[in-house]
Amino acid sequence: MKILMIGSGGREHALIKKLLESPKCTKLYCAPGNGGISRDAETVNIGVMDKESMVKFAKDNSIDLVFVAPDDPLADGMVDAMQAEGIRAFGPNAKAAVIEASKVFSKNLMKKYGIPTAKYEVFDDANKAIEYIKSENTTPVVVKADGLALGKGVIIAQTIDEAVNAVKSIMEDKQFGDSGNNIVVEEFLTGPEVSVLAFTDGKCVKPMVSSKDHKRAYDNDEGLNTGGMGTISPNPYYTDEIATECMETIFKPTIAAMNAEGRPFKGCLYFGLMITPNGPKVIEYNARFGDPEAQVVLPRLKTDLVDICEAVIDEKLSDLNIEWYDGAAACVVMASGGYPVTYKKGIEMFGMDGNGQVDGAVVYHAGTKYENGKFYTNGGRVLGVTSTAPTLDEALSKAYAAVDKIKFDGAHFRTDIGRTK
Ligand code: AMP
Ligand code: GLY
Repeated sequence: MKILMIGSGGREHALIKKLLESPKCTKLYCAPGNGGISRDAETVNIGVMDKESMVKFAKDNSIDLVFVAPDDPLADGMVDAMQAEGIRAFGPNAKAAVIEASKVFSKNLMKKYGIPTAKYEVFDDANKAIEYIKSENTTPVVVKADGLALGKGVIIAQTIDEAVNAVKSIMEDKQFGDSGNNIVVEEFLTGPEVSVLAFTDGKCVKPMVSSKDHKRAYDNDEGLNTGGMGTISPNPYYTDEIATECMETIFKPTIAAMNAEGRPFKGCLYFGLMITPNGPKVIEYNARFGDPEAQVVLPRLKTDLVDICEAVIDEKLSDLNIEWYDGAAACVVMASGGYPVTYKKGIEMFGMDGNGQVDGAVVYHAGTKYENGKFYTNGGRVLGVTSTAPTLDEALSKAYAAVDKIKFDGAHFRTDIGRTK
């Protein structure tokens, strides 16, 4: 099969390495890809939002399967565009991807179908939102832009003033553009966070092994929120008992709710959960694999990923037994100095072999480019250095030992992945 991966991050590199394990995959393209991906797949210079060129490429090259990995092209109908031309594509259509693209949609969905989540109100008017925040007078309070905002549209306000400023910058100053035309103001929840990715064909749902992200830039969960600075799998807080509860109260009801709304979801559905003192609740849904969750979940997948993609597309997922390796995986993200605010690109990297790899780990490239046999930084999150081992401690030591071998000016990584609450 000829397969086209759409995207350019560490998640896409992890998907590509897993697809290469399949005997069914004879040719792999990635658009646009990155430096590390170019060592594993043929990279194609088409932007992820360019539906017309992407469909043309898929047709011209007789692509058998397109995998749409990032949120923006999913929300924009990349899967719909492929399907309209008879091309098989993995991922939700635009109608289903709205579960991530609109927080107002997802919150209303959960309320309507009784899926546990934080209490909230929706506003399309800044003054009404501010009035509500002042009258409730509880802190912390969470203010969220409705639409996609590169993972930055959530503000946890510690004071009423901070919340009022958040509302103003989102709704009046349009900090996130039209993503902030509507906002959600919601109750602050506490408890450990768990990421559960699940394959679903719209009929049945098969959760993958659990994981835990580390979203803050610095050790001890300090600094700004990022796209994710590291992950571990499994998540120690996600017990079998909690998994069973989530299946009955969250996973199955979400699939049923999307069907009832006429928006059957097919692809990978990401449940961002918080294990609160009142039980597990949904913090957010994503319509895709998480990044860097994919980097620790996929190495543990034993079943052929191509078979899974086909079963999802053909709505035959219930016939497939999905198997996982025991043990653990840890991913440490190496970022550019200054990320997530401002950072330089084009810095030469040292310590990796010609394929951008080091012993003891698999290096998933996120923001790199490859020129004349050398790797250079090309983004905020640069690498996801990932190891698997029988125990989490061993996986972490291996990953950190590999991180120590890689050098570039300004390199920043957290030293406490897998060690925080
Ligand atoms: P989101 O983009 O919705 O995942 O939010 C980003 C992060 O903000 C989450 O991973 C949580 O750590 C935090 N967060 C979001 N909503 C809440 C909430 N209601 N209570 C506490 N923390 C939250
Ligand atoms: N790591 C969180 C996300 O992919 O949204």
